[in-house]
Amino acid sequence: MKDLTPRREDLDPIEIASRDEIAALQLERMKWSLRHAYDNVPFYKQKFDAAGVHPDDLKQLSDLSRFPFTVKQDLRDHYPYGMFAVPRQKVARLHASSGTTGQPTVVGYTLKDIDTWATMVARSLRASGTRPGDVVHVAYGYGLFTGGLGAHYGAEKLGATVVPVSGGMTPRQVQLIEDFGATTIMVTPSYMLSILDEYRAQGRDPRDSVLQVGVFGAEPWTNAMRSEIEQAFDMHAVDIYGLSEVMGPGVANECVETKDGLHIWEDHFYPEIIDPVTGEVLPDGSDGELVFTSLTKEALPIIRYRTRDLTRLLPGTARSMRRMEKITGRTDDMIILRGVNIFPTQIEEQLMAVPELAPHFQLELTREGRMDAMTVHVEAVEGYSDPAARTHAAATLQHRVKQRVGVTVAVKITDPGGVARSQGKAVRIVDNRPKA
Ligand code: DLL
Repeated sequence: MKDLTPRREDLDPIEIASRDEIAALQLERMKWSLRHAYDNVPFYKQKFDAAGVHPDDLKQLSDLSRFPFTVKQDLRDHYPYGMFAVPRQKVARLHASSGTTGQPTVVGYTLKDIDTWATMVARSLRASGTRPGDVVHVAYGYGLFTGGLGAHYGAEKLGATVVPVSGGMTPRQVQLIEDFGATTIMVTPSYMLSILDEYRAQGRDPRDSVLQVGVFGAEPWTNAMRSEIEQAFDMHAVDIYGLSEVMGPGVANECVETKDGLHIWEDHFYPEIIDPVTGEVLPDGSDGELVFTSLTKEALPIIRYRTRDLTRLLPGTARSMRRMEKITGRTDDMIILRGVNIFPTQIEEQLMAVPELAPHFQLELTREGRMDAMTVHVEAVEGYSDPAARTHAAATLQHRVKQRVGVTVAVKITDPGGVARSQGKAVRIVDNRPKA
């Protein structure tokens, strides 16, 4: 793999500023953001008033803990425009979540917000090792999802040549990467695995591709998955994080030279970690739920938004800005199986260690009597059709999960292609338990 470390002089000065400088900028911006939300969004005024706090009460960054949280339901309750802090006419673009689980949530951006977003994605790409003049293949979905357009504007802002492919039509993805000479690909890690399979199906060696870096996010993925992709393509795999309510992709990104967690772009997004049960703010280094406050957003200021993502905050390394560890999972994706908390990433880690198994998997939940049960559906790698070898691989995975995760699961190994694929975010959990 090529050394893609960006030159220090190409970074935004704030990325490597002192902690004092960063904190001073955050305090000034946080005061503005609280005031902006309070003055322009009735929801925030009511919430702050009810909690007995006022934007003027914020004297130091830690005073933020006195302000109330915002949750996804608040955005749903104010569908579509009720959380906007500017007249609708000033909103240059809307994005929305799919709404498969109820009312969709709508987010809006002024032109300035779009510019900030593009700047943050450009910074993320630079941290990933992408440079002006590179060809960037965007396979995140275009449309209401923030992945495609967010990546697109950021890559343009960096000065790259953008190929706006969106998701789907996997054979064509491979052809375009090869024909256009993409050096960077932006895509969900699970869809990258489908692209990898397609390379092999076309008889191409993925290590011969000109790809140098993949910027993977929108879903949890493990370091084991990173190694798998890096080895298969002889390319760097870095993690990009974001969520629509806070902006979209580009809230945090790993640095290609360290790959030690994602630096949060703290000049625009202020992170906190809380105990998901009590809401108490926890010190850096503690595991908990990530909460964000936007510092510069105009159209949709967001104050103490509970992401439901679980991680911890760590000090800066390659940049002064704090890091978040790779996301373990979402509070909503936590499976409680006979008293043990499990995240799909823990199963991913274990199955990646079994050479006969491909990294495509789904976890099916069922109920046997009064007990919940979990079946890991996972594909065999190409050429592993011998039933005895498969039984052995299933037993190995079962043993690893029992030893390292602490639960007994069933394992079903399918032929290659037997597990449902997605062209965006992978669906890891299939809940077939009877509805209460
Ligand atoms: O997924 C934005 C995005 C697009 C990020 C492309 C990165 C790349 P939403 O659809 O609103 O936005 O989903 C946000 O996805 O709260 C996390 O649970 C999950 N997520 C996003 N990035 C990561 C990541 C986009 N790098 C939700 N690791 C978030 C783990 C991630 N989970």
